Amino acid sequence: TRTAAVIPAAGRGIRLGPGAPKALRALGGTPMLVHAVRAMARSRAVSLVVVVAPPDGAPQVRTLLDDHALPDGTEVLVVPGGDTRQDSVRLGLAALPGDVASVLVHDAARPLVPIDTVDAVAAAVRGGAPAVVPALPVTDTVKEVDPRTGGAPEPVVGTPVRARLRAVQTPQGFDRATLAEAHRKFAAEGDGATDDAGMVERLGLPVVVVPGHEEAFKVTRPLDLVLAEAVLARRRA
Ligand code: CTP
Ligand code: MG
Repeated sequence: TRTAAVIPAAGRGIRLGPGAPKALRALGGTPMLVHAVRAMARSRAVSLVVVVAPPDGAPQVRTLLDDHALPDGTEVLVVPGGDTRQDSVRLGLAALPGDVASVLVHDAARPLVPIDTVDAVAAAVRGGAPAVVPALPVTDTVKEVDPRTGGAPEPVVGTPVRARLRAVQTPQGFDRATLAEAHRKFAAEGDGATDDAGMVERLGLPVVVVPGHEEAFKVTRPLDLVLAEAVLARRRA
C-alpha cells in the first residue's frame, strides 16, 4: 500500500487580488503550485501526487507541471476541481488508484511547507492515526462575535482560552477510507468544512495534532506573498 498527496489548487485566490488563479502565480519565478508539488514529492512517503486544477484549467496545469522538473519517480495526476474546496478534495480522492491506503491533503496555497512537517504527518498516519493535522499555538487572542454586516460594531460572544487553541495547517493526513467516507457523508452539505479533519471529527473519530511549522503558512492576502518571497530568498541565500 502507498501514500498519495492530493493538492487542491482550484481556487481563484480572490483575497490575493486580481490576477491568475492563485496556484499559478509566481513565487521566486516559479508557480506556487510547482513549489507545493515539489514539497510533497520530496517526502519519501509520497509516491503519487494528485493535483486538483481549476475546473476549466486541467490541460494548462498538466502542461505547466510537465515543463517543470519534479523529484525522480514522482507520478502526478491532474484532475479538474469544483466550486468549493470540499468539492475539489472529493474529486481528487475519486482519482486515487486502489492501492493507496493513506492520503495527505495539502493546499497549493502552502507552497513552502518543510519536508519534516510532511514526513511527521505521514508517519503519524502510517502509525495508525485515522486523522492527523499539523498546527501551531495561536499568538493573537481570539474572540467569538455575533457577525454584523457593513462594518457595524459586532457584539462579543466569548473569549476561548488561548492556550487551548491551535491554528491548523496542511498537509492533513488520513486513512484513505476514513476521509472518503467523510466526504461521501457530508458531500450534500456544501462548503460547511474549511478543513478535512473537521469532517472526520464529525464522523466521531479521533483527530490528533502534531507540531506544524511557521513556513507552512497559507498565502492568502498580498502581505503573505511578501513573506513567502522573503522566506524563499533566505532559503536560496
Ligand atoms: N481550493 C480548491 N477549490 C476551490 C477553492 C479552493 O481547490 N473551489 C483550494 C485553493 O486552490 C487552495 C486551498 O483550496 O489551494 C485553500 O483555499 P484558499 O486559501 O481559500 O484559496 P482560494 O479559495 O483560491 O482563495 P480565496 O478564498 O481568497 O478566493
Ligand atoms: Mg477560498
